[in-house]
Amino acid sequence: MNWETFPDHDALSERAASILLDAIRDDPHVVLGLPTGNTPVGMYARVVAECAREYRCFRDVVTFNLDEYVGIARDHPGSYATFMQKHLFAHVDIAPENTHIPNGMAPDRGVECARYERAIAAAGRLGLTFLGLGSNGHIAFNEPGTPFDSRTHVVALSESTRRANAPFFLDQRVPTHAITMGIATILESRAIVLLAGGEKKREAIARLQAGEESVNFPASALWRHDNVRVLVA
Ligand code: GLP
Repeated sequence: MNWETFPDHDALSERAASILLDAIRDDPHVVLGLPTGNTPVGMYARVVAECAREYRCFRDVVTFNLDEYVGIARDHPGSYATFMQKHLFAHVDIAPENTHIPNGMAPDRGVECARYERAIAAAGRLGLTFLGLGSNGHIAFNEPGTPFDSRTHVVALSESTRRANAPFFLDQRVPTHAITMGIATILESRAIVLLAGGEKKREAIARLQAGEESVNFPASALWRHDNVRVLVA
């Protein structure tokens, strides 16, 4: 695990954006795993600004989002599909058919999870995946207790995660479930970048740094991977 520490969130975002853009320059067909949440917003803003100056930045890029809420439509203001449109997809030349987000409205969620796994495999698996960090150590929506060999699955969200995400749901009706890539799905990415900033993440970062692998702390699964960068602010 490679650790990089930054004085503030702007510097972390700058570095994350340059890692993402370098990956596209190295391989214009790169398959990206993408996160939501507050942490990556600055990274996306820089990527969008940079791509406005580059010809065909995202033209051949393929993306898979880590997760999506169950039971809310794609165009709901709190959906991760809406988040991605707002922060990235609407501003770059990515082909809509190359963007993938689990369908939280699928009538059969099990079928949807299997379809998502197949789509990632068909794309040649993830090349570079960015992750945020939940204050309880979750990655994507893999809450404490999730087995490290999990694939894309439906999860019941913990109370703390629902509280943390409440601001995105003005009516306070935060979904109770989500579809998330599994830990094994994420670990198959060729490279992983974990972004963690701010006071609320200090404890989780310290726990990750301590190095103990435990299913009660999902991010610790990243110690099993040989190409992980952790960007901390
Ligand atoms: C949600 C997302 C996670 C994200 C986490 C942290 O739970 N599903 O993928 O990492 O929030 O969010 P933030 O960056 O806002 O702290």
